Amino acid sequence: MTEPTEKAWRRVDRYLTDTLVGHDAALEQAVADQNSAGLPSIEVAPVNGKLLHLLARMSGARRVLEIGTLGAYSTIWLARGIPDDGQVITIEAEPGNAAVARANLDRAGVGGKVEILLGRAAEVLPTLEGQEPFDLVFIDADKESNTIYLDWAARLGRPGTVVVVDNVGRAGRVADADTTDPQVIGTQRGLEMLGRDPRFDATAIQTLDAKGWDGVAIALVV
Ligand code: DHB
Ligand code: MG
Repeated sequence: MTEPTEKAWRRVDRYLTDTLVGHDAALEQAVADQNSAGLPSIEVAPVNGKLLHLLARMSGARRVLEIGTLGAYSTIWLARGIPDDGQVITIEAEPGNAAVARANLDRAGVGGKVEILLGRAAEVLPTLEGQEPFDLVFIDADKESNTIYLDWAARLGRPGTVVVVDNVGRAGRVADADTTDPQVIGTQRGLEMLGRDPRFDATAIQTLDAKGWDGVAIALVV
């Protein structure tokens, strides 16, 4: 049996990506333009983008909320998973990121389905109250605020809403009980909330993909 060395799991990730995800010009150009613009390369891996896309389709989502747009790589995957009369609302704190995201969304042909709301998510989320509930919420922003974002996901969702939280493994550091890293602590608090808060039923899986060793939590609003 092959040991899961970095070389081995990167090879498997390439195999899975080539076999199941394929290569898409608009998505690959979105990453290239994001990198040229100096944004960090922290978009989800292709296999993970496809997971978001499939979760949107499996849940029949029409209204999607994304917290943390970056260059819109995951936003494109989500927008392609909802019907033409659906909408993705994505929240981004950095105006420069939002400009890159807008260009990437328009080039990918999904610009009409996506509204980018500029601002700190903790301030933008309350303005969404009273709208039709979201069917899927993807949380991928500052990890320190994950419990705030999960609370809003439950409030802006409905029973049956799918909630996905990115980066719950953090190269294994999520299991460090004595960590002082605020991002890891925020991730831990979010997971503890998913385990304890009666509004959610959740699990999480570790991931080894183009973005290294991390993980994704998947929850249902009950
Ligand atoms: C970081 C944030 C992310 O959303 C991600 O996918 C990877 C890394 C970070 O802040 O380090
Ligand atoms: Mg992320």
